[in-house]
Amino acid sequence: MSRPQGYSRLQIVLHWTIALLIFVQLSINEPMQRAFFERLSGKPLNEIDGAQLHVIVGLTVLVLGIVRVTIRTLRGTPPPHKETPAILNWLAHATHMLLYGFIFGMPITGALAWFLGIPLAAVLHEIGRLILIPAIALHVIGALTEQFVFRNDSLQRMFKARAR
Ligand code: HEM
Ligand code: HEM
Repeated sequence: MSRPQGYSRLQIVLHWTIALLIFVQLSINEPMQRAFFERLSGKPLNEIDGAQLHVIVGLTVLVLGIVRVTIRTLRGTPPPHKETPAILNWLAHATHMLLYGFIFGMPITGALAWFLGIPLAAVLHEIGRLILIPAIALHVIGALTEQFVFRNDSLQRMFKARAR
């Protein structure tokens, strides 16, 4: 299958919506930690709204992630830039795959911890945060490097849709 010239509008909207929801999850999770601790220690659950929001936002990421990967499979993605060194293109691709892993892995481990009370899932969810944040940082540094060092349209193509 030939690769498209750029991302579609839907691919772009999904990228930024998922990114935003993940930032929300990473910055507001204290009510969920508290509720989970209360549940584990058999205490009555207080102020569950924040925890419910964490569940809803997290499961939304999972559903949008499924839509995104389906579209990616059907439509494809634009090719990497030829002028960027192959090792950096490889690193960018590996980081993208890792981020997709988290788009699915975080909601799944969270759900296994919350709904089924599996302690290992909670541990994996916490470790996930420790890897996800540097992975996002690397991804952003990569996007800025493409923009300001290699001066190509990597960043623009995640804002401006193009037909196949
Ligand atoms: C994109 C999706 C998600 C992200 C990025 C995310 C992120 C986080 C973060 C950063 C924490 C704090 C971890 C820590 O203790 O340091 C947390 C805690 C937690 N999250 Fe999520 N979460 C997501 C989805 C979900 C979902 C869908 C559920 C449940 C259905 C869930 C259940 C939990 C639970 C139970 C905790 C407490 C774990 C503990 O304190 O050991 N998460 N989450
Ligand atoms: C400020 C934050 C972010 C910036 C500036 C950014 C920028 C970009 C850019 C420019 C691309 C296109 C790269 C290319 O095709 O040349 C991209 C792709 C991608 N981004 Fe982000 N991103 C951000 C946050 C995130 C977050 C939080 C996630 C998920 C956790 C994420 C996941 C991905 C994935 C998986 C791709 C690959 C898309 C594909 O080709 O299938 N990004 N990002």
